Amino acid sequence: MRSLPKLLSCICLSLALAAPALLDAQGFDNPNWWRHAVIYEIYPRSFADSNGDGIGDLNGITRRLDYLKGLGVDAIWITPFYPSPQVDFGYDISDYRAIDPQFGTMADFDRLVAEAKKRDIRIINDMVLNHTSDKDPWFIESASSRNNPKADWYIWADGKPNGQPPNNWQSDFGGSAWQYVKARNQYYYHEFYKEQPDLNWRNPAVKNAMFDICRFWMKKGVMGFRLDAITSLFEDVALKDEPYLTGPEAGLNEYGEKKLRHIYTDNLPEVHDILRQLRQVVNEYPGRILIGETYLPNVGELAKMYGRNNDELQLPMDTQLGFTNHFSVPDFRAKLKDAETRLNGNVPLFVFENHDNPRSINRYGDGTHDAAIARLLATILLTPRDAALIYYGEEIGMVNHDPKSRDEVQDPVGRKYWPKNKGRDGERTPMQWNAGPDAGFSTAAKTWLPVGGDYKTVNVAAEEKDPDSLLNYYKKLIQLRRENAQLRDGDFVSVDESNNNVLSYLRKKDGRAVVVSLNFTASPQTVNLTGKGVSGRHAKTILASYANPGNTNDLSNISLPPYGAYIAEVQP
Ligand code: NOJ
Repeated sequence: MRSLPKLLSCICLSLALAAPALLDAQGFDNPNWWRHAVIYEIYPRSFADSNGDGIGDLNGITRRLDYLKGLGVDAIWITPFYPSPQVDFGYDISDYRAIDPQFGTMADFDRLVAEAKKRDIRIINDMVLNHTSDKDPWFIESASSRNNPKADWYIWADGKPNGQPPNNWQSDFGGSAWQYVKARNQYYYHEFYKEQPDLNWRNPAVKNAMFDICRFWMKKGVMGFRLDAITSLFEDVALKDEPYLTGPEAGLNEYGEKKLRHIYTDNLPEVHDILRQLRQVVNEYPGRILIGETYLPNVGELAKMYGRNNDELQLPMDTQLGFTNHFSVPDFRAKLKDAETRLNGNVPLFVFENHDNPRSINRYGDGTHDAAIARLLATILLTPRDAALIYYGEEIGMVNHDPKSRDEVQDPVGRKYWPKNKGRDGERTPMQWNAGPDAGFSTAAKTWLPVGGDYKTVNVAAEEKDPDSLLNYYKKLIQLRRENAQLRDGDFVSVDESNNNVLSYLRKKDGRAVVVSLNFTASPQTVNLTGKGVSGRHAKTILASYANPGNTNDLSNISLPPYGAYIAEVQP
């Protein structure tokens, strides 16, 4: 496990804003607020615990809204807080119209929405349409017999004549995706844990019930939904076996099973019909948006998620860029260009971290330059033409704190496959607010997951005081993309394309350009941008991730330290 070294001691900032503040463009009532939004993902168990039970809650989030306002976020996406047996920590919902008591009450939720609104912060709910909990009354009824009113609400099938599951489909969490139920003498399909049965989206009653749930939350002021596992809504009706991968992709998955090509369980065309209908529902309420959890194989499939007539998701997550997981200028350049040119002018939603993947420093860090790398990643996230997702703690440089023994593991997948797969606890540890007990997250004797060992130095309070901290670098970047017309919505233009060490691009608008240069190597680099797609000779420094970049630079000779990021206005 790597830890983030002490943050760089001095980061120089020179804010030369190209345009006056355009706060109206960020106003709550602007229906296009999401186009260059910064959306902050909160895993509520781990963000802030207001009642001292060791588990974060809604009132904890409300108390921290001023922090989020100070950071500059436009919206917060909160992972599921509905009543749930918590087998998959909320992604197994048993009541879609209520609040799990461990997170608070509906009154707490309403207060959170109202207080957030006062600060121009929108609330985005996580909506799990693909499956429910097996304790949801819908499933309990469905599982009780073959002829009850909800008998067809889930994916039920007979076993093979020898009693084996209907086909070879695998659960994402290992093992067969089918579970036997005696009362029906049938199997049900579950893409995730067996406690998460998949709904039957071919049944219009399921669709109508779910759409009404979405309306219920929008009426409460929720400004949109992050759609969980949205590409998985449909399965092949004939229940055909999936083929095994061949060629270089073949092999065993992390659970030791032969890998399948998921052509009958993922990304079926019918998903788009539902997204179009759901978009109509969302359009009933102004300014509401749909974000998708869209792990897709390529940019072509991602483009389809916006809909042929821009009538599906506003912001399907672009997981191509942030999960590259190695520094390669050609790879990042290609993915940024794809996002600019192959999404039909739509806005990509870039993401480097979430609650299902190791923290970005664990994937991109080299153990020596991690502080610089964290700033570099922040710059790639926040300076292209995009909407940006920040996962709580990313802005202070939190790293994974993986469990040290199987007994400590909370995530069932980690318990089952320890030590090969340690589960997702490591990226879900409590937010590090200060250097006090429980890192200021809670007052409990024991928190649901232990606080990361680096919390004495990596925490909000320490970084707020340090003008050169990663947190303050994030704040400056967010402020900049809000106030600088080029960075806010200028075109993205890749330049200096023969350079494989430094990634450079322009953001252009109204005849002006801002240049961003990013050193992807552990050695100092000098770039010459003149005549390489950049018309100008000088660079007026706006922001740099390192000390002493100078106020102006010659565009033919910009020096970048290892993993340094430089942002400047192009001048004649
Ligand atoms: C994706 C969620 O992000 C993940 O945490 C969850 O386990 C699965 N979907 C199942 O809901």
